[in-house]
Amino acid sequence: MITYIGTANPGFAPYAMEELRRRVRGTKVSGVAAGETFSFTTGDGEPEQVLKDLRRNEPVFLRHIFPVEAEIPVSSDEALTASALRDYAAQLADRVHGKKVAIQVRKAQDSPFPYGSAEGRDIMAEVVRELGGEVVARDSDWIVSVYSSRKLLYMGCSAPKDNLSDWPGGAVRFRRDEALISRAAFKLLEAEKAFGLPLDKFTNALDLGAAPGGWTSVLLERGMKVTAVDPAEMDESLALHPRLRHLRKNAAELSFAPGSFDLLVCDMSWDPYHTCRIVSGLSSALSAGGSGIITLKLMYRKPFQSIQDLTEAYSEHFDIRKVKQLFHNREEVTMWVRRKP
Ligand SMILES: C[S@@+](CC[C@H](N)C(=O)[O-])C[C@H]1O[C@@H](n2cnc3c(N)ncnc32)[C@H](O)[C@@H]1O
Repeated sequence: MITYIGTANPGFAPYAMEELRRRVRGTKVSGVAAGETFSFTTGDGEPEQVLKDLRRNEPVFLRHIFPVEAEIPVSSDEALTASALRDYAAQLADRVHGKKVAIQVRKAQDSPFPYGSAEGRDIMAEVVRELGGEVVARDSDWIVSVYSSRKLLYMGCSAPKDNLSDWPGGAVRFRRDEALISRAAFKLLEAEKAFGLPLDKFTNALDLGAAPGGWTSVLLERGMKVTAVDPAEMDESLALHPRLRHLRKNAAELSFAPGSFDLLVCDMSWDPYHTCRIVSGLSSALSAGGSGIITLKLMYRKPFQSIQDLTEAYSEHFDIRKVKQLFHNREEVTMWVRRKP
C-alpha cells in the first residue's frame, strides 16, 4: 500500500477526498491542510493499478498527487531540517544518476518549516548533483516532492506523469503577458494543456460570453477566425482585428448555419443550466467531431450533483471527453466535449 499527498483547489479538498473514497476501494483519506491538501492510501487495490486508474480517468477535483516515501515530524530548526532533506535526497542515488530531476518544495501556511521553496530546493539540489543528477525546473525524468504541513514533512520521488501534473502541487503558471486582456485567458491556456488539445489545429471558433476578450485573444493568436458573442464590450485592442467578428448579442438569440465552426468555447457567467440550454441550442453550428471547451459554474454548492446533471444534459448533443477543475478555475470546472456525429 502506498500513501499519497493529494492537492485540490482551495476549498475543494473535501470533494477530491470524496471522489477518492468512491473510486479507491479501502482507501484511508485524511486532511493534512484545511481545504486543500490531504493524504490518501491506495487501499485494497494493487498500487500500480490504482495509479493507472487515476491517470486514465482523472478525478475532477484532484489536482496533484505524489507518493510519500518519507514522513518525519517537521521542525523549525534549520540544521535539523536541512539534514532531513539531504538524507532523503541521498537515498535517491539509483534513480537520479544521469537523469533530469525537478525538486518541488511546498509548505502549508501554518507550517514551521524554516525554508522557502527555493532554499529547500537548493539544499536538495546540491545532493542530487553530487549523485550525478541534473537539476532542472521542467521536463524532468523525476520529480522530488517535499510538502510540509503543520506537523509532518512528507517527501517522495516520482515520474512527472504519475503526479497528474508536473507543476508543484498542480499550480500551473503562465507568463503574465499571456493574459494581457483578462486573467480568464489562463483558463483556456491551461485547458489546452490539460486536455492535450492544441488549439492551433482549429480554424473557425465561436466564443460565447467572450468579453472582455481573454479567450478570444488566445484563439486569434492561434490563427483562428473568431466569432465572439457578448452584449458587453470587447477590449479595444481587439476592435480592428481582421479575423474577429463581435456580435453584441445575447447568445440565446442567435443561430448559425450548420457546421459553421470547428471549435466552440463558452465561459458565460450565468446559471449553468441556462448556459447548457443555449450551448445545446447552438450545437449544430459546430461541425460533427468539432470540440467544445465550456466552463461549468458550480453555483449550487452541490458540485457532484451539478456536474452529473449538466454532463447528462450536454450528452444529448456532445460526447463528454473530460471534466476537470483546473488550477485557474474558481467556483467552476472546465469540460471538453466533442459534437456527436
Ligand atoms: C467571465 S466573463 C468571460 C470572460 C472571457 N472568457 C475572457 O476571457 O475575457 C463572462 C461573460 O459572459 C457574458 N454573458 C453572460 N450571459 C451571456 C449571454 N446570454 N450571451 C452572451 N454573453 C453572455 C457576460 O457579459 C460576460 O462578459
